[in-house]
Amino acid sequence: MHIVVTGGTGMVGRNIKDVVLEHKDENNYHFLSSSDIDLTNRDAVLKFFNDKNYDYIIHLAANVGGLYKNISQNIEMFSSNIKINENVLEACHLNGIKRGIFCLSSCIYPANPSKFPMDETMIHESPPHPSNEGYAYSKRMLEVQCRHYNTSYGYNYYCVIPVNLYGKYDYFNLKNGHFIPMIMHRFYLSRKYDVFTAYGSGKPLRQFLYAKDFATIILGILLEYKDLPAEPIICCNDEEFTIKEVVYKLLDIMDLSKEKLSWLTNYSDGCMKKTVSNKKLMYICPGLKYDFTDMDSGLKETYDWFKQNYNNIRK
Ligand SMILES: NC(=O)c1ccc[n+]([C@@H]2O[C@H](COP(=O)([O-])OP(=O)(O)OC[C@H]3O[C@@H](n4cnc5c(N)ncnc54)[C@H](OP(=O)(O)O)[C@@H]3O)[C@@H](O)[C@H]2O)c1
Repeated sequence: MHIVVTGGTGMVGRNIKDVVLEHKDENNYHFLSSSDIDLTNRDAVLKFFNDKNYDYIIHLAANVGGLYKNISQNIEMFSSNIKINENVLEACHLNGIKRGIFCLSSCIYPANPSKFPMDETMIHESPPHPSNEGYAYSKRMLEVQCRHYNTSYGYNYYCVIPVNLYGKYDYFNLKNGHFIPMIMHRFYLSRKYDVFTAYGSGKPLRQFLYAKDFATIILGILLEYKDLPAEPIICCNDEEFTIKEVVYKLLDIMDLSKEKLSWLTNYSDGCMKKTVSNKKLMYICPGLKYDFTDMDSGLKETYDWFKQNYNNIRK
């Protein structure tokens, strides 16, 4: 079995590689990066897939980033993700790839939903938060595309919907990164001055999933749950924290003082709450409940890895 993984050099792709190696998986995986193929280039994508014999796909590649990248690059994120997804799906269709995983995100959900927790039926219920409208609509279109390939051609394209992901191999950029890698890196650099800053009010609620747990879920859905209906599946555990709680956890893990922390409240909070439900995931894969990495362990593993690999991390 040949399985192609787009975005194979990103955080989730690298975690999939780790899980595959641990399990001595006998399938052949092909982990792609943007230097193998620029997925925004239709001609190049169709040519690249044409002479391969991939059976399944795990499509992770995307123009991704944290709140502040989303706010400043709405149009770029919309445009590149629409192109990437359209080209990848066309290549799958033309080359007989009928089963795959396609990655959405819980931050594409309505900013003002009719209820909490939100479930898989509510993706298109009302507009997303304006801060990430470009990214959100490009990912919402991916759900529409997959659904129609499934109903028109009988494919099994699963849209997985993770909450905020963090872990080893994350992108620790100080400006465009997601909340956890960005603040971990900032705290790390400011430890010698013993003065720490966090952005916003600290009040928004967020759910987090350790990237390795998500990698395990993806491989389970693709390879083990063969009879699963090809519908979207939210991927999260049962934990939810305020940003402030996570910042305090990080300061503890990094052995830094809370007294030296100040909040820059002129920075946007983004969406205050976007709680989603894992009811469907738990129903499909009940065993998973006991395997989730709790936030304290996940943050510690991430920080240990970050410190050990500081010179080589993506930043
Ligand atoms: N990180 C999160 O918190 C989060 C939360 C929810 C959903 N997601 C979704 O999860 C998936 C994986 O995210 P991630 O955090 O692993 O992303 P990531 O670490 O930023 O990695 C992005 C990957 O996409 C590749 N890529 C980007 N543009 C490309 C292009 N034009 N052509 C080919 N490859 C391209 C990158 O290749 P290079 O390494 O060569 O640049 C890299 O392998 C994404 O679909 C994302 O939307 C992420």
